[in-house]
Amino acid sequence: MIEMREAWRTWVTPRPLRSRPIHRWFAFPHSFTGDLVDALIAEWRLTEHDHILDPFAGAGTTILAAKLRSIPATGYDLSPLATFVSKVKTRNYNHRRVESCARELLHRLSGTTFDVVDREYPDLVREALPNGILATFEGIDRAIASSPGSPRERDFFRLALIAIIPKYSRAVAAGGWLKWVHNCTKKTSICNAFAKQVDLMVGDLSTCPNTRANHWSASCADARSLPDEAPTYGAVITSPPYPNRHDYTRVFGVELMFAFLDWEKTRRLRYQSIHSHPESRPRRPEHDDYQPPRGLRSTLTKTRRAGLEPKIVSMLEGYFLDMHLCLRECQRVASPGAPIAFVVGNAQYAGCPLPVDTYLARIGQALGLKWEKTIAVRLRGNSAQQMGRFGRHPSRESIVVFRKA
Ligand SMILES: C[S@@+](CC[C@H](N)C(=O)[O-])C[C@H]1O[C@@H](n2cnc3c(N)ncnc32)[C@H](O)[C@@H]1O
Repeated sequence: MIEMREAWRTWVTPRPLRSRPIHRWFAFPHSFTGDLVDALIAEWRLTEHDHILDPFAGAGTTILAAKLRSIPATGYDLSPLATFVSKVKTRNYNHRRVESCARELLHRLSGTTFDVVDREYPDLVREALPNGILATFEGIDRAIASSPGSPRERDFFRLALIAIIPKYSRAVAAGGWLKWVHNCTKKTSICNAFAKQVDLMVGDLSTCPNTRANHWSASCADARSLPDEAPTYGAVITSPPYPNRHDYTRVFGVELMFAFLDWEKTRRLRYQSIHSHPESRPRRPEHDDYQPPRGLRSTLTKTRRAGLEPKIVSMLEGYFLDMHLCLRECQRVASPGAPIAFVVGNAQYAGCPLPVDTYLARIGQALGLKWEKTIAVRLRGNSAQQMGRFGRHPSRESIVVFRKA
């Protein structure tokens, strides 16, 4: 069954997150919103006795929305940036202590200038943050590291610092790639921007439920082979990367290599990510049980004949194999009867529509999951390049809902 729910259309875009406390600390380009998670929690009547899984946690939207409703949640993501953001957003804090650490840190930084870069960085970071900007970011990072707070308080301030990188970077995200711009923002304003971000985050803490429970976590794992052994999750709410060539290790390359990984590790992360971009070449678990969904082969043949590059065709083949492996894992770790929702976006290549939601439903059914419905929420225009060549044919963004038998 395909159901149209236009009222949910803005909930599959990250825009509304910019005005939502805590969610706004950091968003991913394809984050959905807490409203979507809330609506599914209400529809499935989940309670604090359930446990929600998000195997593509991104900026932690599912885990945070679950926490705000006191429902335990676990997130996984391949990217250390994603798990860091998710953890910082969903931890418990002592509001007063964070406030006093913030005052002390900002006092130490006021009037200080930083001119020397001590650490080694990949070229991308040096080129994106030139002329003393990198020295200032590193100086603030050092001040955070030596500040008197606890490790989790230091992480809180580190997220504030990472969140302002795009304001100063010459490499800005454009679609799934980085575009070089002439950014003339002065390094002298970085401490002010950091102070503003810290103020916003400290202010948001008052909206966080005061709980001692520790039922919300995020850690690094591949959604194709999750670390859980037993079927424990009462629901899955997630959104895998879309097959649109978008590469999170590129768009967040500066943040990743400033704070988490060197160049080689970033490259390995790129290779291992879901086959949603042509540079991915992941190591996968055994998959003898996979058959491409009905219709996929003929669609790919059409795209090939229409001139689609072979590397994009094999990306699309790999994408659906990856979806099979992720659904297989969700099925394994979900408890019987658990609902599983995947937010996905259809695409278009060489003028041929690629109905990702339909193929996903078929893959789930082949695994023995019950396909309940596909909720179509939004129509997105195709890429400028596709529109120019083949006309405007919007693709739908939808939520494919399964139930574990
Ligand atoms: C569409 S985003 C998720 C956004 C998230 N729903 C939110 O609201 O912020 C997809 C995420 O999948 C992650 N990812 C890519 N390949 C992965 C893999 N093999 N295993 C786990 N996560 C992966 C990316 O790092 C990215 O954070």
